[in-house]
Amino acid sequence: MSREDQIGVFDSGVGGISVLAALEALLPGERFLYYGDTLNAPYGTKTEEEVFRCVSAVFSHLLEANVKAVVIACNTATAVAAQQLRTRWPDLPIIAMEPALKPAALLRGSGRILVLATPMTLRLEKFHRLMETWGDAADPVPCPGLMELVEQQDEAGAQAYLRRVLADCRKPLDAVVLGCTHYVFLRPLLRQLLPPQTAILDGNAGTARQLRRVLTAADLLRREAPGEIRLETSGDPRTVLPLMETLLAQARVLAREA
Ligand code: DGL
Repeated sequence: MSREDQIGVFDSGVGGISVLAALEALLPGERFLYYGDTLNAPYGTKTEEEVFRCVSAVFSHLLEANVKAVVIACNTATAVAAQQLRTRWPDLPIIAMEPALKPAALLRGSGRILVLATPMTLRLEKFHRLMETWGDAADPVPCPGLMELVEQQDEAGAQAYLRRVLADCRKPLDAVVLGCTHYVFLRPLLRQLLPPQTAILDGNAGTARQLRRVLTAADLLRREAPGEIRLETSGDPRTVLPLMETLLAQARVLAREA
């Protein structure tokens, strides 16, 4: 493992591109290899065994590329596999994600916190533990089908979906937690639908800071600039790569505003 090696970043599809932009913003000198497992998306409505198989295959691919660290830019893959991957590769820095419920709980007033995530993320042990500590005012809302609307760039569909979710919650909201990296692309849409005092939180900047801490501690920060980004997909590169490029441009703007 050397400072010059790439950092692997992956998700079930394009959601992790939102994380990638936050990583690039904080660590512009690094070389990132992004892998979207589009062929196997979505993860959030599969079984744990299926997701684990997919994630293991992506991991093997990234290890073949000699990455010096891996960022699991997916809450669902984290919930299913992060612990086992860390046990299997104890020497590899593995940065994982979880819904930003703690920061939401810390800033809240008297209203509720809505946590939007995939059915899998909300079902598993990791999230239940988070709820025990920080979930007093939280209402988890599984959102099957929402990541697909992001993948398809179906803005009208996403808007109708989010309107339905918000119509179901009758109490004032202090915060909405985007517990799936795909939903970060829906932030501007949500901003229009929510009152200005409702915060919208995601874990992207925190994940970037954690990556920097871990690389610094392991003396693996790259010293040369500039960095680079390589995009890969298990789907059809002719359609997926242009979509990834478009979303990366959007995500860079979102990361600057966050
Ligand atoms: N982007 C993902 C997450 O953060 C997963 C979406 C999916 O594959 O269902 O949970």
